[in-house]
Amino acid sequence: MTDILREVRIAAVGDLHVGRNARGLYRGGLSRVNHEADVLALCGDLTNFGTPEEAEVLLGELAEVNIPIVAVLGNHDHEAGLHEQFSHILCERGIHLLDDGDSFEFNEWLGFAGVKGFCGGYGPGALSAFGEPMIKTFVKEALDEAAKLEVALRKLATPVRIALLHYAPVADTVRGEPIEIYPYLGTSRLAQPLDNFQVAACFHGHAHHGSFAGRTTGGVPVFNVALPLLRQRNPDAFFHVHTVTMPTEMGRAFGTPERRRSVSIGASGRRMAGVPESGAAGGERDGQ
Ligand SMILES: [Fe+2]
Ligand SMILES: [Fe+2]
Repeated sequence: MTDILREVRIAAVGDLHVGRNARGLYRGGLSRVNHEADVLALCGDLTNFGTPEEAEVLLGELAEVNIPIVAVLGNHDHEAGLHEQFSHILCERGIHLLDDGDSFEFNEWLGFAGVKGFCGGYGPGALSAFGEPMIKTFVKEALDEAAKLEVALRKLATPVRIALLHYAPVADTVRGEPIEIYPYLGTSRLAQPLDNFQVAACFHGHAHHGSFAGRTTGGVPVFNVALPLLRQRNPDAFFHVHTVTMPTEMGRAFGTPERRRSVSIGASGRRMAGVPESGAAGGERDGQ
């Protein structure tokens, strides 16, 4: 079925923060993805503490979703220290978890790679692996996550690669948060693999009060789809839909021009801001 799609609609959202008392809060809104998208991408902080009990509540909220689900975990999903058990519960449901360097090929031309990522700051301000062993360990975590993402992207045989992260790979999409916490919201070390593989789009969460759209230095479009941020734009939002079109060389046989468009859709079905193909760095553009 999916191998004849000329466009793939990706519904992306992070930071659902499903708690033990969240039953019913998301179920109806998330069920809309069946009509609005072809694949649901979850960008971490699926729950508050990463307990098995919360995982079961999350699965209840996703019960009506019948399109493929691809996901990475967030820092909150690690809080209880039970992420292996937590991940197992999600995988049993058929969710494609990417955190261990796995990738997911949605069809013959579009695939996903992703990791949770880590923090450490941006550009010249990024923390260096120098000095105390603890600092080196901290920086190594970010380097390891970036390396895992690189390997997962390389695994994909599809010409179009989509990346999922929890932490932000660019400073563009954390703008709006207090500047003092930028280094804890992500690191530009995660951006290098995106540029190396010319990823078509990267989705992340974690920066609840950041900015919606940005770009890596190599031009890869980055979208912060943290639910609290989506709801600043549209109080009814449950996810953001980004459409990717089959590459020109594959689409030529069908006469399909290469294009991408990006809209957010809330529970009411109301369409939100479009995001331009270029010049989007620095924030959202509404009303297009
Ligand atoms: Fe979060
Ligand atoms: Fe987070």
